[in-house]
Amino acid sequence: MAERRKILSVVGTRPNFMKMAPIAAELARRDDRFEHVLVHTGQHYDDSMSHVFLEQLGVGEPDHQLHVGSGSHAQQTARVMERLEPVLLEEQPDFVLVPGDVNSTLAAALVAVKLGIRVGHVEAGLRSFDRTMPEEINRIVADSVSDLLFTHSPEAAPNLVREGCADASIHYVGNTMIDTLVAMGERIEEVGAAVAHGLEPGGYLVVTLHRPALVDGPLLADAVAGLRQVAEQMPVIFPAHPRTRAAMHALGLDGGGRLKIVEPLGYLEFLSLLASAAGALTDSGGIQEETTFLHIPCFTLRDNTERPVTVEMGTNALLGLSPHRIEEVPALIEASARRTPRVPPLWDGRAAQRIADVLACAGGAERAVAA
Ligand code: UD1
Repeated sequence: MAERRKILSVVGTRPNFMKMAPIAAELARRDDRFEHVLVHTGQHYDDSMSHVFLEQLGVGEPDHQLHVGSGSHAQQTARVMERLEPVLLEEQPDFVLVPGDVNSTLAAALVAVKLGIRVGHVEAGLRSFDRTMPEEINRIVADSVSDLLFTHSPEAAPNLVREGCADASIHYVGNTMIDTLVAMGERIEEVGAAVAHGLEPGGYLVVTLHRPALVDGPLLADAVAGLRQVAEQMPVIFPAHPRTRAAMHALGLDGGGRLKIVEPLGYLEFLSLLASAAGALTDSGGIQEETTFLHIPCFTLRDNTERPVTVEMGTNALLGLSPHRIEEVPALIEASARRTPRVPPLWDGRAAQRIADVLACAGGAERAVAA
């Protein structure tokens, strides 16, 4: 019988939890083949950004908590590296899995590869081609040191090959964030978040904005002014990230009337709200994907996206980093009703199974960098 493999996953921020939960569940189902260890770096630490997700997604308590908290990029990355190294030395995993593109992803990938532990990157190969975004640097570095590159978007493999990654290390497995959405579908339907927030299903806009380029400067006031204009035509609900909330507070910006600014929501509440929305306005990566799967028109307030498949096949439209375009959203929602979106290949709820299949067979010989 094949030896049991120890897989250690590192999560740190809100979107990581949805990407890793189905993998944790699949590895637990195959516990004759796998032992799974979960490490939470603590990059996100508020209950509303962390605990509620682990609870709702059934992930449970992590085996190790690093409590790194907030800080500059260097501080946060360095703290994860310092605190993760002894955990990896103690656990001696066969593979370290890192999801997405946040600072915790980059830090964990670096620590593992330097200890000679094989790294698997979940959500490999996405590129915005904008190196001013911290996430782009995190993606490039994580991919370049990973042995297993798990992709979910057709353009990811060509992006990786162009950077010198070996074909044999690239595995198109599908989207684990969509696995979570499929697995939680019934529970999401039961929540009825729209009605709970006094909104008519199908008749409101959901907003999330948190990227530094938008919220840490003068564009935030323009964005809130745009949202006020939209609210004259349709109700707007904006669960605000702590970074955004702090910036709004500093500028004396607030909601009011049909612009409702609320605390960050749990996974079930947020997806319930999204699933019955008329549309979404966002700068998040995950929401571009979730709206594509749900066939909800999505407007992305960025100049670029590392997820072009959501524009080509799905429901996503790039508005640019241009808050003055927010007022167009109600008309754009009307116009988008005429398009028939598609869902990218293998966004079918079974990506985690494919990842576990690869992990069961992967040998030590594969290296991401072509010889
Ligand atoms: C991080 C990721 C971003 C991801 C986002 C998802 C990086 C570089 N960025 O951005 O890619 O889209 O998570 O939400 O890794 N804060 C709290 N409580 C928390 C977490 C954060 O109050 O639980 C506040 C702190 O003031 C902190 C700020 O938010 O300084 C930013 O947090 P940080 O983790 O640095 O980046 P995010 O903006 O959350």
